[in-house]
Amino acid sequence: MLDESTYDIVLQNTTVEFDISSGAVKAVDNVTATFYGGQITGLIGESGCGKSVLAHAILGMLPSYAKLEGNILYGDKNIASASTKEMRSLRGKEIGLIPQNPGDSLNPVRRIEAQLDEALLVADENSKRRKNKAESLLRSFGFDNVKRIFSSYPFELSGGMQQRVICTIGVACSPRWVLADEPTKGLDIDLRKQVYDTLEMIKNKSVQGMIVITHDLVLAEKLCQCIAVMYSGEIVEMGKDVLKTPLHPYTKGFLASLPENGMHPMKGISPKPGDKSFGCKFAPRCSYCTERCINEKPEQYEYEGRTVRCFLYA
Ligand SMILES: Nc1ncnc2c1ncn2[C@@H]1O[C@H](COP(=O)(O)OP(=O)(O)OP(=O)(O)O)[C@@H](O)[C@H]1O
Ligand SMILES: [Mg+2]
Repeated sequence: MLDESTYDIVLQNTTVEFDISSGAVKAVDNVTATFYGGQITGLIGESGCGKSVLAHAILGMLPSYAKLEGNILYGDKNIASASTKEMRSLRGKEIGLIPQNPGDSLNPVRRIEAQLDEALLVADENSKRRKNKAESLLRSFGFDNVKRIFSSYPFELSGGMQQRVICTIGVACSPRWVLADEPTKGLDIDLRKQVYDTLEMIKNKSVQGMIVITHDLVLAEKLCQCIAVMYSGEIVEMGKDVLKTPLHPYTKGFLASLPENGMHPMKGISPKPGDKSFGCKFAPRCSYCTERCINEKPEQYEYEGRTVRCFLYA
């Protein structure tokens, strides 16, 4: 077990490539970024840009055919080279996951009690203590009738209740960090509000740091102190107030394309994950594009407390 101090999650030149029959898919491309303990970072970007793969890399949950390069530092460990046994002891206990799609993540043929008990078993072998902990956890997530929830199958719960059960499982072993993947996806406005409150609850518990992957900018604005924007496997912009004052041309275009901002579509399409380009990946779609952007890859420049991968901020 690691000590009581706050840990950051530090990615150094982290790359995840899938070798599949149609060619190599570079889902995460040379990402260098620090997710600071003590704050919530929102990870945003269009579908397929690599958000979930990044989270799975941190959790050591990549499929066997994935190739992971670079470092993922956590405390005194490098997760990228940790053994299966080390990762098993880290996952859930140190870094918890609230996965995308609660409907798919809960086992449809097992009652909630068994699923919650399984999550707690990682940290405690005493079944009586686990049962007490499960009860108090469910209560703390707003379930009054714990007996009914224990004996329910997932299909007997509403979408919002399923999401709260998933959150309960994600934080069951009191992890220091929580990664939440699209916690409000597909939920109506009332259920979204429930999830905001649940995440607030998690934030106010013992959790030290969180990464929330989301398309829900109201959630990101409400909950996150830092925003990281991904485009085609890269983090193109990261820091505070990104949603208020976006700097990278992609962030500006992405925000303008959202329904809440008038749905102004961006021209062009994202590169395919296997595409090889020399310069900035956003160059073909960028109205500020110069010769240099096509031929040379911009670094992550420090600009007014943010990192921005664009020559405009060099
Ligand atoms: N197991 C896998 N095998 C092969 N390719 C994969 C695998 N998982 C993800 N990918 C590919 O990696 C890229 C990034 O996927 P990822 O799921 O991280 O996107 P995302 O940003 O989470 O998208 P969404 O917002 O839709 O959830 C995509 O091109 C996807 O098709
Ligand atoms: Mg995803």
